[in-house]
Amino acid sequence: MAIERTLSIIKPDATKRNLTGQINEKFEAAGLRIIAQRRLQLTSVQAELFYAVHQDRAFFRDLCDFMISGPVVVQVLEGENAVTRNREIMGATNPANADDGTIRAMYAESIQANSVHGSDSIENAAVEISFFFSQIDIVG
Ligand code: CMP
Repeated sequence: MAIERTLSIIKPDATKRNLTGQINEKFEAAGLRIIAQRRLQLTSVQAELFYAVHQDRAFFRDLCDFMISGPVVVQVLEGENAVTRNREIMGATNPANADDGTIRAMYAESIQANSVHGSDSIENAAVEISFFFSQIDIVG
């Protein structure tokens, strides 16, 4: 099994409800290590850049507005198959389809306010990690 790194975001719906610790507990219980973490308020431009891949989707504007509606916690998670493992821990994008016990089944409010983001591939993880973190911020 490969040790990987993935980018995680705890979204404004979750930070507003003070769920950062409970979500981090899920990552750690599943064997992922939080090797970098920062709480920040995204700007509109930053949200648009981060989600640029979705810029032609109907939900793009709402998604960006939601992502700046409160603080987010950006994180680098490390562990065996971290990209896939994190997606398993998060559950399906739409909480209505998320398996019991996943973060989204437990905490998400809607497909938009779905509590967490996780990179969808190793390649995107590298891009997304470098969007928020410098090498010096990541302590493995
Ligand atoms: P995330 O994993 O952060 O990646 C893109 C986000 O867009 C996704 O989680 C959802 O929050 C949001 N999203 C995806 N599909 C829809 C949709 N059909 N309607 C609203 N938001 C969506």
